Amino acid sequence: MFESLHVHGKTFAPALFLAPMAGITHSAFRRLLSDFGGYGALTTEMLSATAFHQEDPETSPFSRRRACEGPVVYQLRTCGEAVLEAVMAKLAALRPSPPDAIDLNLGCPAPEIQKVASGAALFRDFDRLREVLARIRACYGGPLFVKCRLGDDPDDWRAPFLERLRLFEDYGVDAVTVHPRFSGEKLKRRARWREFPWIAASTRIPVIGNGDIRSPQDVEGRRDFFAPLGGLMLGRVLAQKPWAFREFAGLPPMPFSFAEVWERLYRYTLEDFPPEKAIGRMKEFTAYFSQNFFFGHELFRASRGARDLEGLRSAAMRFFDGAAGARQACEGSFGQDRRASPGDVPGRRRPSQNGGGCG
Ligand SMILES: Cc1cc2nc3c(=O)[nH]c(=O)nc-3n(C[C@H](O)[C@H](O)[C@H](O)COP(=O)(O)O)c2cc1C
Repeated sequence: MFESLHVHGKTFAPALFLAPMAGITHSAFRRLLSDFGGYGALTTEMLSATAFHQEDPETSPFSRRRACEGPVVYQLRTCGEAVLEAVMAKLAALRPSPPDAIDLNLGCPAPEIQKVASGAALFRDFDRLREVLARIRACYGGPLFVKCRLGDDPDDWRAPFLERLRLFEDYGVDAVTVHPRFSGEKLKRRARWREFPWIAASTRIPVIGNGDIRSPQDVEGRRDFFAPLGGLMLGRVLAQKPWAFREFAGLPPMPFSFAEVWERLYRYTLEDFPPEKAIGRMKEFTAYFSQNFFFGHELFRASRGARDLEGLRSAAMRFFDGAAGARQACEGSFGQDRRASPGDVPGRRRPSQNGGGCG
């Protein structure tokens, strides 16, 4: 499953995509993922059309992209501002290479995003959505993706959803990522994977499935839900395990240490962001990364409490050295949701593991 996705004359292989995550999927994080490989395309953080219009793409960390990242999809948040055409032209002119696809955010339920008529609010407003798609398609001929949730009303979402699928087809949308939750739901309630087959059967556009997909076993265990999809999009699991794409792609494990991975992202982030911005981003990442450990709450707490970058780094290194953390044994494969002790080296076999290996 998911060897490749062919759309608009492009091949994304494997058909595994990084989910856009504001505060996390900046170029430094994508660079870390590229060190491990195993994906078809990475995605930027959500770019506000207005902000992007004003910033200098040569210096902005938001539009920055490195050759090592490979294919990158740029996610745009817009309500159809007057500058939309200029923004599309600026995106298409990005150097050293233009976006491999542009993804329109139609799912973000955050009140501040909906208040400016974007994200889930744009998905809701059929006429404006049509106008935005028409304007984008009139000035942009490249691969166009959209990312949405199921809609607003759990009791009556299928007809409006079908209407929007028809709209996407009419305007040449090349792939639809569906995160099967409703706009009123936070991330706690389980994503409704059971809706994937109906959605995929309802459109000729390839559907990329997203939401709570944490391991290849999740997908294998529910082939009936996942087989009709054109691809998978992974989000939080990659902030916890930046090597996870390799597992989904069936690539052999790559040895590394938790401390080294954390520190590498720290270095990459400092190359792109000034310290006062880098610290927030490292804290955000550390909140997910700490979930690899039985006593990860100690790392999480220490990270939250750090006042400056050096304090954050020392706290993290202390934890990884095992001084502040617990010393529980690593339980098994990192492809499953098991937790490690701070000094563990995934990809290296440990004698106590029933031959399972940590990779
Ligand atoms: C911190 C964070 C930031 C996010 N930012 C965005 C965003 O900018 N655009 C978007 O479409 N979705 C955003 N999402 C939603 C994710 O793309 C994805 O749909 C969601 O996390 C479910 O996938 P997962 O279970 O694999 O993480 C964000 C999610 C998180 C946790």
